[in-house]
This record gives sequence, C-alpha cells and structure tokens, in this order.
Amino acid sequence: MFKTIQEALNQGSGKVSIRGWVYRERKMKNFCFLVMRDGSNIVQCIVEKDKVTPEEWEAVNKILVESSCEITGNIVEDKRAPTGFEIKTEKLNVVQFADVFPITKDQSTELLLDVRHLWIRSRQLTAIFKIKSTVLEASREFFKKEGYYEVTPPIITGSSCEGGSTLFEINYFKQKAFLSQSAQLYQESLIFSLDKVYAITPSFRAEPSKTSRHLTEYWHLEPEAAWITYEELQQLTENLISYICLKVAERNPEELKQVGRDPADLKKMVPPFPRMTYDDALKLLKQDGMEVEWGKDLRTLEEEQLMKHYDKPLLVLKYPKSIKAFYMKEDPENHDVVQCFDVLAPEGHGEIVGGSMREENYESVKQRLIQQGENPEHYTWYLDLRKYGSVPHGGFGMGIERVVKWICKLDNIRDTIPYPRTINRSTP
Ligand code: 4AD
Ligand code: MG
Repeated sequence: MFKTIQEALNQGSGKVSIRGWVYRERKMKNFCFLVMRDGSNIVQCIVEKDKVTPEEWEAVNKILVESSCEITGNIVEDKRAPTGFEIKTEKLNVVQFADVFPITKDQSTELLLDVRHLWIRSRQLTAIFKIKSTVLEASREFFKKEGYYEVTPPIITGSSCEGGSTLFEINYFKQKAFLSQSAQLYQESLIFSLDKVYAITPSFRAEPSKTSRHLTEYWHLEPEAAWITYEELQQLTENLISYICLKVAERNPEELKQVGRDPADLKKMVPPFPRMTYDDALKLLKQDGMEVEWGKDLRTLEEEQLMKHYDKPLLVLKYPKSIKAFYMKEDPENHDVVQCFDVLAPEGHGEIVGGSMREENYESVKQRLIQQGENPEHYTWYLDLRKYGSVPHGGFGMGIERVVKWICKLDNIRDTIPYPRTINRSTP
C-alpha cells in the first residue's frame, strides 16, 4: 500500500511504496537521484541501473522535474539526504512524463503569477497553505469551544456594508446587485436566531490601489454575538488571535521554519494584548514627532510607528464616529467616538481585525445612514432588526490573509492565497 512521504519517513526503515512528483533529478551514468515530493514532505530516492529493469532505467533517463511517479524500495537513514532518509528504489512506475517545467530559478514575480497554477506546488507556497489551513481549523475550534454556530450568509447582496466606493457591482438578471464586502449585516440578523454565530466567507473589495496588504477577494472571518459587551468583544478577539498563534506554533513547526518565523514568537502571543484609545494613539504619535489631526484616520505609516512600541497585537479603541461605518455604536460617554477597535499586528503588518458594538436603536441607525449619504430604504430589512426585539450586540471581521501574512512574515499579502486577485489580475 502507498504511504505518504511523511509516513514513509516516520517508518524510517524497511520496504515502502510512495507516489508523488519529481522535485529534483540528478542523473549520473549508472545511477540517478530523484527527490520526490507530495503534499506531506520530500524524500530522496536513488535509482541504480543494475537494480532496476532496462525499461525502468530507460524511463529514469527520460524523467523531468514534475513527472508523476510511483516508487517502491527500502528506506534507510542517510544524513546527507535532504530529509535524512533515502529510498533504495526497486520498482519505479512513471505515471506521466512531464514536459519541460516552465519555472526555473529566479523568475520574475509577474511570470510566477502568470504560471500560478504551477507555482502553487513550490515548497514556500505549500508551507504557507498548510499554515493557513491551521489558521482556519483553529478558528473553527475556537468558536466551537465558545459556543458559536457556523453560518453561511449570502455572497450576492443588495446593500453595501462598508461604503459604496469599494463595491463590485454585478448584473443580476438585469438587476443591480453586489458582491459582499462583509457578511456583517446578515450576521447581525442571525444572532436573533442563534445568539452567537460566525462565518468564514469570501469578501470582495474593489480596492483601486495596489498595496502589499489589499486583495480584491479575501477570506473573512466574522463572528457576531447578542448581549456581548464592548469589553467581552475585545477579549474574544485577543483570545482568538492567541489561540490561532499557539496552534500554528504547535502544529506547523516545519512550515514555520520554511517561511522563516520562529515558533517562539507566536507562543508569546498570550492575552492580555495592549489597548489604547485613538486619542492616546494620537498623543503617542505626537511624542514620536508625527502629528495627526483629530478626526483623521490612521495611515499605514502612523500604524507602523505606533507598533514600534509593541511586540503583541495592539487594540486601538474608540475612533472618531465621522470616519467609521454607520452601524458602529456611539460611545455613551463621548458622542464623537464609537465603541470600536482595530487590531494592529506587530512588525508593521497593519490592521488584521476591525470590530465594534452595533448601534441598536432604530432612529439612531437611520440617522447615521442619512448622515453618511445612504438611502435608508436600501436598508429596510436591516432596520427591521431594530424593530423586533433589538438587543445590545457586537462582532468583528478578521482578514484571514492578513493574519497569515503576519504569521508567515511576508512582505506581500499575495502569497497567502493560491490565486491572488488584485487590481490588475484576475487570472489564472
Ligand atoms: O475593517 P473592515 O472593513 O470591517 C468590516 O468589514 C466589518 N464589517 C467587519 C465586522 O465587524 N464584521 O474589514 C475587516 C478586516 C480588516 O481588518 C482586514 O483584516 C480585512 O478585513 N480586510 C482585507 N483583507 C485583505 N484585502 C482587503 N482588501 C481587505 N479589506 C479588509
Ligand atoms: Mg477596518
């Protein structure tokens, strides 16, 4: 029976059969090294001319990188081999002889994006995708533990959640509709059915700028809870981030090594995380020689400056009402600010979470919509939620790719997703 390469390595001795793709090949006169890879790991195989049939030897000489093969032989410890073991090939079956692989060393970023369907096989991307899989798995574990239900809000919507400027419009049977920017409004409706919910969905932003942290399509984790308080919402956020970091440190040591992140960094991400109000952030920035006018949003460079003071994620609380969304609850003590928070990741990775308490009063939401130039008639169903048993509630949105970018120490968000969608790319 076939084993994964990792299972074969774990077995460490005796007969094994593996299958996968040729990662590297080095042919000599009477023997050949094939490094094979599958989703689990890589292993070196040696094929010796006098240990295989003439047909098999002929096949070996035609093998190019990425050919798919099945190999049987004895696995033995060999310190010189890339993963410490070598398979002494006794039987080799080439399932398909690959064409010349178009990716060689030192290709340009653009070319690698053109052949993304092939580049996703690289060790680097494989490691990142495994870490991302743990991020998603840990998120689901966390919310299950906390008593949340996973729900499936729609992607095609009729209203804007995060402002009209980044909406993707679609032709929906000749009617205007949009791709979801956030599941939040629907999540708010679902708390009246299930109390505590979360969803992991694609979100779409027609971001007109090319930056290292924006995708036009990204995966969004959005919990929403009835009765939750502002303080509890902040704790939920930091506990989730901490849980994710600890699970990745525990489950992906090899992958973290591949991407250059020390698992010890992640193990330090234990609550409580530092918190500061927007007002105090402006004071700190001023001390650092960066003056920001009250009422202006923090820009990337200001967020980076703030994070020079912290090595854990920072929660920035109570932003001015005027720069935040219509649904955010006014702070009862100061009507100019809202009960919200952005979580900034360390090392200059920027905002990974945005959350808030929600305005629960019918008239207040309606007024806020009007103030922001929206037509309340487009939000009739949402306003209904404030008519039939409205309750205090709140939630947040976490950009999965932003978190992976931080955990994997990547300069650009692109490699956190198999097929990055950006302003100038929607293929392959
Ligand atoms: O801060 P945002 O816009 O908040 C919302 O959408 C709320 N409705 C969420 C909620 O309360 N349920 O987006 C939330 C997070 C950001 O903090 C960021 O991590 C990520 O989504 N994000 C993006 N990630 C990648 N590419 C983009 N263009 C992103 N825009 C936002
Ligand atoms: Mg935000």
